[in-house]
Amino acid sequence: MHGLDIRDSRADDLSAIESLYPRAFPDEVLVPLVRQLLTQEHDILSLIARTGGTLAGHILFTICDMTGDDTKAALLAPLAVEPQWQRQGIGTALIRDGLARLKSAGVAHVYVLGDPAYYGRSGFNPETGVAPPYPLPDEYRAAWQSLSLGAALPPDHGKLKLPDVWMQPALWGP
Ligand SMILES: CC(C)(COP(=O)(O)OP(=O)(O)OC[C@H]1O[C@@H](n2cnc3c(N)ncnc32)[C@H](O)[C@@H]1OP(=O)(O)O)[C@@H](O)C(=O)NCCC(=O)NCCS
Repeated sequence: MHGLDIRDSRADDLSAIESLYPRAFPDEVLVPLVRQLLTQEHDILSLIARTGGTLAGHILFTICDMTGDDTKAALLAPLAVEPQWQRQGIGTALIRDGLARLKSAGVAHVYVLGDPAYYGRSGFNPETGVAPPYPLPDEYRAAWQSLSLGAALPPDHGKLKLPDVWMQPALWGP
């Protein structure tokens, strides 16, 4: 997209990021999660997309270990684009940029819980081996997906080890 600028978020972007989430997700309360991930000592990749200097989208990855595997992994979540800027490629650009940065940082596998119709376009496939850190309801199983960034084969079993801030039922179920 012409004029799109993607960069790491900074401390002074926090209030704009916090005001984006209720507009992108009117039915979900993601602000406390995002705030904790951005302000506490977590291993994250947080990118913002701006158009004309204004925040248009945000993506967050939490970098983590897995049980039973030595490679680094990351959870993609959340991803939000301002309603007025949706369906113009910003979400896809944030995913693509984030994956490239994670690959450079040595992250081997990325996981996401989301709509396969959307994330499949960016190369994610259904994941049945590595489990999410929290048990999923049956109707969410097909939404658990992964993508490998390098040559390392994805582990066929194991579990993501995410910080406690992720261990809330509301983040993993309806
Ligand atoms: C979902 C979201 C992140 C996508 O970002 P975006 O910048 O609008 O998406 P892109 O422009 O990169 O891709 C658009 C394409 O993805 C598809 N798409 C967009 N939103 C979709 C959704 N919620 N489910 C499935 N497919 C979707 C469409 O096919 C669209 O292509 P089309 O316009 O040619 O039909 C954004 O719409 C958003 O923030 N929505 C509200 C919050 C949300 O649901 N986030 C989910 C991620 S946790």
